[in-house]
Amino acid sequence: MINMQRPTYFISQPMLYRNNRNWYGYKKIGGKVVSKKSLRTTLKQEAESWLSRMKVSRQTIEASKSFADSEFLPGPAIGWLHKDAKVLPYDKPESWEAIKNLNCPVHIVFKNNGLGLVVINGEIPEAMLSTDSTIPIIGSLAALPAANLGDRSFCDDHGIDYAYYTGAMANGIASVEMVEAVAEGGLLGFFGSGGLGLAEIEKAIDALTERCPDKPFGFNLIHSPNEPKLEADTVQLYLDRNIRLVETAAFLDVTLPLVRYRVSGISRDDGGQVVTPNHIIAKLSREEVAAKFLSPPPKHFIDELVTSGELSREQAGLCSLIPLAQDIVAEADSGGHTDNRPALTLFPTILALRDKKQAEFNFSQPPRIGLGGGISTPWSAAAAYAMGAAFIVTGSINQACVESETSDNVRAMLAETRQADVAMAPAADMFEMGVNVQVLKRGTMFSMRAAKLYELYRNYSAIEEIPLVERKKIEKSMLRCSFEESWRKTKSFWRHRDPEEIERALNNPKHKMALIFRSYLGRAAVWAQNGDLSRKIDYQIFCGPSMGAFNEWVKDSFLATPENRKVATIALNILYGAAFLRRCNYIQNMGISLPENLKRIKPLKLRQVLEYLK
Ligand SMILES: Cc1cc2nc3c(=O)[nH]c(=O)nc-3n(C[C@H](O)[C@H](O)[C@H](O)COP(=O)(O)O)c2cc1C
Repeated sequence: MINMQRPTYFISQPMLYRNNRNWYGYKKIGGKVVSKKSLRTTLKQEAESWLSRMKVSRQTIEASKSFADSEFLPGPAIGWLHKDAKVLPYDKPESWEAIKNLNCPVHIVFKNNGLGLVVINGEIPEAMLSTDSTIPIIGSLAALPAANLGDRSFCDDHGIDYAYYTGAMANGIASVEMVEAVAEGGLLGFFGSGGLGLAEIEKAIDALTERCPDKPFGFNLIHSPNEPKLEADTVQLYLDRNIRLVETAAFLDVTLPLVRYRVSGISRDDGGQVVTPNHIIAKLSREEVAAKFLSPPPKHFIDELVTSGELSREQAGLCSLIPLAQDIVAEADSGGHTDNRPALTLFPTILALRDKKQAEFNFSQPPRIGLGGGISTPWSAAAAYAMGAAFIVTGSINQACVESETSDNVRAMLAETRQADVAMAPAADMFEMGVNVQVLKRGTMFSMRAAKLYELYRNYSAIEEIPLVERKKIEKSMLRCSFEESWRKTKSFWRHRDPEEIERALNNPKHKMALIFRSYLGRAAVWAQNGDLSRKIDYQIFCGPSMGAFNEWVKDSFLATPENRKVATIALNILYGAAFLRRCNYIQNMGISLPENLKRIKPLKLRQVLEYLK
């Protein structure tokens, strides 16, 4: 057992820690734990013997001894540089450019009793062997292009530069303009098909096919337990229009349309590999749901597709060799539909499940696990990649951008949002099931009013059962018309959307009550999107705590102004910042502290961030 109070060293596995501004470490010599003092002696002896074997000069040996005597002593040097190497002072902001430039490999060295940086320019190997090598290298920082963050295969498979995608936002809030801007930035974007009719989705398909002929993009498929026909028709539209990439959400179980989409056109390529033209990125937050998406499509659905003639027997045989989704997003506490899971616990759980399912099914390409929910700053992105996320997903911050299909009122409210300004409220689409969504709380009474409606729905079986005074309050404040008038409007909506719902409501007063309440919830999102000022107090705006973290980060920068928030500029800044922070972490892992103001990374204008990312 190591006594952490007694500074000692393990030679085979140097460990470092710091205590009262002094560096200590452990070194084990032949199984014996030695003290710091004997470590210094050993280091000096080692340096002398190693350096003499390398035929280096007396100066180098002296330098190594003074290094061993120095206060810094983070461990044995990993190499030595020529005395004339250009050393940048460690504590000068000008020197930090070398760290900020992601593609610049840097040595951290010790010179003149202090730390310094040496930009690696390709001449180092000779310098290291020089007889005049007097500058010990403490550690080396490799280049870390932002394109290396996450799993490279995610970028290659989807034809993008960075392992980052912008999630769909319902009612076309994730607009054609947004998806196009994201694609231009070398990232992946999903159009927000949820809540839209087929004609509107098809219009977006037309627009994106024309505007992004050579760039990838995807469409959303949100589970509609109340409208199974809409889900099936949307899948048919995607199949008809060759939409090859779909982001799914809110599925609690696998459905036939989902399987149809995934396995349609499955075959073997010339090399014998199973290939599928269609890909699913499944967003989820529950283990039991993840297990289904990480497994092959259920056999009974495959049999159904064979019976209906949509799959041949040979194709059906291939379906057991692929996961339902090649990419999974562990979606932590996010805007909209969420189980509020913490990213730090959800991600490792889903990752472990992936490993288990991969061991069970041995897919030729293991499913990748990305992370979404709460990511809105370089710090959160760096943490996601550090945990092993194959890619990251953002949502709330994109709604605040100029390309989103929402109102300036909403953008202004989002710019004011702080960490705790969000709340859970009943969802319009899964109201009866008691499903909640995360929305903006500040500046609107939506979450409270929606919760009141759900409470009434649970407690009563018909509108007529609700006490008169409550009914009057709802008519006055929320519906702004009588229940009769509201039912007339609700019926007219469902007559176009799904007339069967009206039938059900006429036979079931509780269902009628649900449809009226859902109508308020649904319209509350439209009022926000349209910027209807007369209904500002009722705005339903999906939003997660990530919005507050973002606002805190960009405070006092050009991105604090809603008009300057552009989706690609923000994404590239997050990616650049994440890569930079990972480089900083690497230096800290050498046992070297970094100035706090170096790590306080501020947003850069697009031209500047592109320069750094180059
Ligand atoms: C306004 C808004 C609408 C959303 N609508 C959908 C949707 O229709 N379908 C979907 O899959 N996800 C939807 N989401 C979730 C996002 O795609 C994304 O997964 C999530 O916002 C990421 O978490 P974050 O909000 O913390 O960034 C929505 C999110 C927001 C903020």
